[in-house]
Amino acid sequence: MKALILSGGKGTRLRPITHTSAKQLVPVANKPILFYGIEGIRDAGITDIGIVVGDTHQEIRDAVGDGSRLGVKVTYIRQEQPLGLAHAVLVSEDYLKDSSFVMFLGDNLIRDGITPLVDEFRQGKPTSQILLAHVKNPQDFGVAELDGERVVRLEEKPAHPKSDLALVGVYMFDKTIFEAVKAIQPSKRGELEITDAIQYLIDKKFDVRSHVITGWWKDTGKLEDMLEANRIVLENIAPLNEGKLLGDCRLEGRVVIGKGTVVENSTLRGPLILGERCVIRDAYVGPFTAISNDCVIQGSELEHSIVLERSRIENLEVRVEGSLVGRDVVLRHTDARPRSYRFMIGDSSSVDLV
Ligand code: DAU
Repeated sequence: MKALILSGGKGTRLRPITHTSAKQLVPVANKPILFYGIEGIRDAGITDIGIVVGDTHQEIRDAVGDGSRLGVKVTYIRQEQPLGLAHAVLVSEDYLKDSSFVMFLGDNLIRDGITPLVDEFRQGKPTSQILLAHVKNPQDFGVAELDGERVVRLEEKPAHPKSDLALVGVYMFDKTIFEAVKAIQPSKRGELEITDAIQYLIDKKFDVRSHVITGWWKDTGKLEDMLEANRIVLENIAPLNEGKLLGDCRLEGRVVIGKGTVVENSTLRGPLILGERCVIRDAYVGPFTAISNDCVIQGSELEHSIVLERSRIENLEVRVEGSLVGRDVVLRHTDARPRSYRFMIGDSSSVDLV
């Protein structure tokens, strides 16, 4: 069995972060989302992984390489344009050949992994197995309509969902899926939808099975989802201090401090993670915060946030919370007169001031 991870696409809902980088590489608890997917696939006993990449291919290649670091063998498959999930399957035919495969959306995070689900597919050998989860906002997903346990209809982002059962971004297929992706037409939004391809299998009476998962799962396309994913992963983090504490420091709860990081006269209230070579001085870093490598937090308070590499937060008078701060960002208070806000903010940014 092989795996196909979809890491192309646009990432419009995480702009401006995704103007300059792939959404699948935004870190959750300081590890790119994509890596959780790769590890889950590996733990299910699949090591042959094709990664579908688009415009951000170089960045993904740089981060994942040949996969050996993560214990897998990665083949990159270029999709020239993000023409839909079924299109991604179509361009991967040469790689997948006759093999059954797990298709995993690179921005999805499944806390409990996929091992039992892959085992179930291996044993039952259906044409396809899909995962469903109850959600509050089914109109944002592919939605399944069931008759008892049987899936009768799938609809992509319906205005009037027939159920609250969303399609989770992990699908299992045998080679019959190629017949389906070749038979369907682009949807109203111009994409070849995997939802329509699975509907084709259902209509042709192939064996499509569904499994409602109850564990935590997230499509991390939006800021709130990223912060929630960060919170869920940090909840299980094991404390580790590889840095240095200076002066009067208070550490509460589960705190991870990376190599070369210096914490001085500060309070750290976990669960939280600090990357390598950071400086935290005269600061408070609170629960559910992940700070990437080479950041400086000084004279400021921060919680429930994600800060990416090399950013500096200095002398802010109000606590920062619920925020995603990109790479090389400077947020600081100055005493210059006249008192004014001065911004250099990228496209599609959003700033809430008090
Ligand atoms: O997350 C679950 C949902 O994922 C399902 O409920 C929906 O049925 C399914 O269509 C999908 O919806 P999204 O709108 O969230 O898909 P998105 O465009 O975000 O793409 C998912 C991943 O696939 C993402 O990592 C980007 C990648 N992708 C997307 C497209 C359209 C590709 O690699 N190539 C593509 O052409």
